[in-house]
Amino acid sequence: MFDATDVEVIPLGEACGAEIRGVDLKKDLSDEVVAKIQQAWNDHLVLCFRGQDLTQEDQLRFAARFGPLGARKQAPEPLRDKAEGVWQLDPKILLVSNIKVDGIPVGAFGDGDMWFHIDSGYSEKPYKYTFLYGVELPAEGGDTLFANMYKAYDALSDDMKKRIAGKKALHIHEYKRAEKVDLSTDISKVPHWFHPVAITHPLTKRKALFVDRLMTARIEGVSNEESDEILRELYDHGEKPEFTYAHKWRLGDFVMWDNLALIHARSWFPPEQRRLMRRCTVDGAPVFE
Ligand SMILES: [Fe+2]
Repeated sequence: MFDATDVEVIPLGEACGAEIRGVDLKKDLSDEVVAKIQQAWNDHLVLCFRGQDLTQEDQLRFAARFGPLGARKQAPEPLRDKAEGVWQLDPKILLVSNIKVDGIPVGAFGDGDMWFHIDSGYSEKPYKYTFLYGVELPAEGGDTLFANMYKAYDALSDDMKKRIAGKKALHIHEYKRAEKVDLSTDISKVPHWFHPVAITHPLTKRKALFVDRLMTARIEGVSNEESDEILRELYDHGEKPEFTYAHKWRLGDFVMWDNLALIHARSWFPPEQRRLMRRCTVDGAPVFE
């Protein structure tokens, strides 16, 4: 059993992120240790535990200390091959991987870069938390970039805060990685949902910007031109270096993030190099302004 005094919190960047030392996630953790991790999580939004050796069961057991686990969302039939994989046997696990067995992907979202997004931001109840464990890593690239949406919201001009107040935006998931949503498609066939452009975080009660380049398609109640103009500005603003932390993965890293306070992205990596990440989530609830 670990004591909360063993837990060390070392900030990783100006924008967000902290490394937690003194915790072996395989072990049964006391409520005090979990509370200390939760406090560090609220403060830093992304936590990294280095040198962990975790089975799938270890990962799910630890994640469940922070709420009911989320189930992997199944893609609609025509998009199924973009998100399913032959090694994803537990409905609570999503494997993010470019590895194929006999030509069939073992997981989802294989190669290349992936634009900033919110995990399941296209659904009624976006995941509250995401947990990612690095099982196999490429020699270069494949970093996970995080942008702090509290800071991004706080730094908006008063004029922009007024423009987005009370507005909702449409989030659509077409299972793309680095391509803008195509609004001319019949969206009834792809997962989508409307959320406030800025939300109040359910736990911290802080305001966070809640749009992303990959899946946010349209702001309701304004012209197409105005929607495009605002969204372009918000994407560029939210992804500024001063709000961003780039996590360079090492084998054994276990990273957990607050999916309602951050957007995240993936940098490019050589397609011939294997990358396998094991993801699970904690369920969320509807979000409000
Ligand atoms: Fe993601």
